[in-house]
Amino acid sequence: MTRRLIVAVDTPELDRAGALLRAVAPHCGLVKLGLEFFLRHGPEGYRAMAAAGADIFLDLKLHDIPNTVAGGVRSLLPLGPRLLTIHAGGGAAMVAAAVAAAAQAGASRPKILAVTVLTSLDAAALSATGVVDGPARQALRLARLALAEGADGLVCSPHEIAPLRDAFGSGPLLVVPGIRPAGAAPGDQARVMTPEQAVEAGADYIVVGRPVTAAAEPGAAAAAIARAIA
Ligand code: C5P
Repeated sequence: MTRRLIVAVDTPELDRAGALLRAVAPHCGLVKLGLEFFLRHGPEGYRAMAAAGADIFLDLKLHDIPNTVAGGVRSLLPLGPRLLTIHAGGGAAMVAAAVAAAAQAGASRPKILAVTVLTSLDAAALSATGVVDGPARQALRLARLALAEGADGLVCSPHEIAPLRDAFGSGPLLVVPGIRPAGAAPGDQARVMTPEQAVEAGADYIVVGRPVTAAAEPGAAAAAIARAIA
């Protein structure tokens, strides 16, 4: 289903981002822009992408004191992103402040997604930061905290979908990177699922980057994934 596919356009080049977006927009629900693009091209680049006809997931993973994150969210509201990310590790008050700031946009507000434990952190790396519980328990703890403060959903790895659905039911939006169509190169993604497996497991959205953006025909690659999850 086209709506469930998010294509991650990870490039700092404006022209390439625009070309990718125009190719994939008919086959996906949203396009994800991240730090690499936004820090270089800012709101102007964002508006150029939105004008090309895509709803945008702005993945900036905000993390600061509550007042600053709330101000950051308010500054982004005029751009009209559909989804925004924050770090649940910023704490309950920070999550609540982000949710309240987003609510100021009324019905067109961005949904707030919380990032729990970065998938780049294994147990040893996490323990070096003082978190000794392990990634799975810590992710569940942060997910509970973020959802209790009104976050609309979570970014999670494919293998977290089932435990999160068990713990929190069908309510939270689960947005899932680490997706590889059968036969695609995993790249630096350690634990992947296919688009079909992730949707079957309960993902609301799957986030796919390189299998689409590095394909000879990104539009056709996105269309194939959309068909696979139809
Ligand atoms: O190219 P690939 O499909 O691996 O891209 C996945 C996208 O999802 C990238 O933008 C990456 O930063 C993002 N992401 C991820 N794992 C997370 C959070 C975000 O791969 N835990």
